Amino acid sequence: MQVTTQEASRPATTTGMKITKLTENIGAEVTGIDLRQPVDADTQKFLYDALVEHIALVFRDQKFNPGEYLSAVSIFGTVMPDESPKNRLPELPLISQISSLSKDREGKRVMTGERWHSDHVNHQRPPKFTCLYAVKLPDSGGATNLANTREGYAALPDAVKKRVEGMKTANVIIGSASKSVNSDRRAWQAESPPDPVIHPLVRTHPDVGTKALYFHPNKVENIVGMEPQESQELLEELTEYMVKPEFLYAHQWRLGDMMIWDNRSAFHRASFDYDINQHRLLYRTLVEGDIPH
Ligand SMILES: [Fe+2]
Repeated sequence: MQVTTQEASRPATTTGMKITKLTENIGAEVTGIDLRQPVDADTQKFLYDALVEHIALVFRDQKFNPGEYLSAVSIFGTVMPDESPKNRLPELPLISQISSLSKDREGKRVMTGERWHSDHVNHQRPPKFTCLYAVKLPDSGGATNLANTREGYAALPDAVKKRVEGMKTANVIIGSASKSVNSDRRAWQAESPPDPVIHPLVRTHPDVGTKALYFHPNKVENIVGMEPQESQELLEELTEYMVKPEFLYAHQWRLGDMMIWDNRSAFHRASFDYDINQHRLLYRTLVEGDIPH
């Protein structure tokens, strides 16, 4: 493991904190900081910059109650609610629950997030960051996988880059040609059909100017000017270019881990390789973002 370049310019208040890369291209581990304690403005900026640089930060050994968790995430920006009220924690609705035990309205286990995606892209201002905190874990498996979408974009052949230049996605709750089997979302969309929200297929990071692929295949109704099925095929092709081992990080959870990542530079997907009769519970929070451009 390699200590990062940020070390030289760190604020004095972060003495004892250590940031170590988890892989060459994505992810860093932060140890030696208790996020229940207040942080000053310099430390806040240092952590934000580290998150943008490394795309994901894993804070080890945190001991949060829900309120403390919410305060810790707020270091990185303003927390926004999950679009699905059903997932929200009753006592603190800005936190949502990702639970292996949750069921849809037909009583079936809900397995969401199995495909590479970015969160809440059907919103005008999708979340810039997504954060998870491990509350209950299965004996093994259940990793959260991240992919570096700026490297994914850079790796596209020139002809593909040219082809996707200027393309826009039309995003809804669940795309008509998507592979999602989430019956709750289909019912929800049928009850109140949304106006599609348009976003660039390749977005530019507002802080650092890097370009990255940007979509959620289940939420794309179509790429503007293309049919839904044809759109899904192109998204699958783009995903194939991106998911090279050197652009990926699989986070194997330990209790006390908080992982936050930058949706403007990363896709994520869940692993369903664990015993689903064991309870896996993560608290999720979303940090408000800008309109993608
Ligand atoms: Fe997600």
